[in-house]
Amino acid sequence: MLDKLSKFFKAKVHTDEDKQAAAGVVPKHIGIIMDGNGRWAKNRGLSRSVGHRFGGEALRKITRAASELGVSYLTVYAFSTENWKRPADEVRAIMAIFLEFFARYREELRSMDCRVRFMGSRDNVPEDVLETIILAESESAERQGIQLIVAFNYGGRQEIVDAVKHAVETAGDGADFSHLDEESFRQFLYLPDVPDPDLIIRSSGEMRMSNFLIWEAAYSELWVTDVLWPDFAKEDLQRAISDYNSRNRRYGGV
Ligand code: IPE
Ligand code: IPE
Ligand code: MG
Repeated sequence: MLDKLSKFFKAKVHTDEDKQAAAGVVPKHIGIIMDGNGRWAKNRGLSRSVGHRFGGEALRKITRAASELGVSYLTVYAFSTENWKRPADEVRAIMAIFLEFFARYREELRSMDCRVRFMGSRDNVPEDVLETIILAESESAERQGIQLIVAFNYGGRQEIVDAVKHAVETAGDGADFSHLDEESFRQFLYLPDVPDPDLIIRSSGEMRMSNFLIWEAAYSELWVTDVLWPDFAKEDLQRAISDYNSRNRRYGGV
């Protein structure tokens, strides 16, 4: 009996899945809640907007790192629907840094063959920011490398409400929704072709979702680090991926 059991366990360690885990499977889609710019700046006696500028630099480095590691989709939380509550000068600084980021790194994103996409509501977004969104999306639309999805003016609950409105508008008056199911509803979300995130990383230690990918993250693995976003490096991303590989994703099964 014991002999049989030990054979069973030996056999188990050599399944294809175990081999993949040992080699390190790269998650296809990683989401990042880029938090901690303000605390990073405060620790240095700098203004919060300087923290956001360094946060942009970390985003550039991590996009490259994710692309080198073979990640297909990287969704980053850049500005939430709740972030409008911040002081007007901080919101203005974030918008300016957004414009600067896409101007300064235009060539670098092209060199990575990076396709840039945005998810979020376009309501209240300043005109120049909208123009940048449209340009960055259109000029990168045919690229085949990593997809950098910027969640900007994004709220997970807002996305679900927008999906309901979109579904009702598409169906027209008096439509019958009795056959609506999860898969058909998904078609009305912002980016229905993007697979759900496998792994969600949050920097700066907070253990909450803050309205990020509420529908899509239903079965994502979560990984939180105390590292503040401007300090987040490729090694941290690798640590998160290696931890992800030790997880057992059960999706409600056994
Ligand atoms: C995240 O950093 C960036 C945005 C929300 C735009 P924070 O600005 O939230 O940084 P902390 O949480 O105050 O340190
Ligand atoms: C989440 O961070 C939003 C972004 C990273 C863009 P917040 O700093 O806004 O989240 P809370 O307020 O700590 O929940
Ligand atoms: Mg924060």
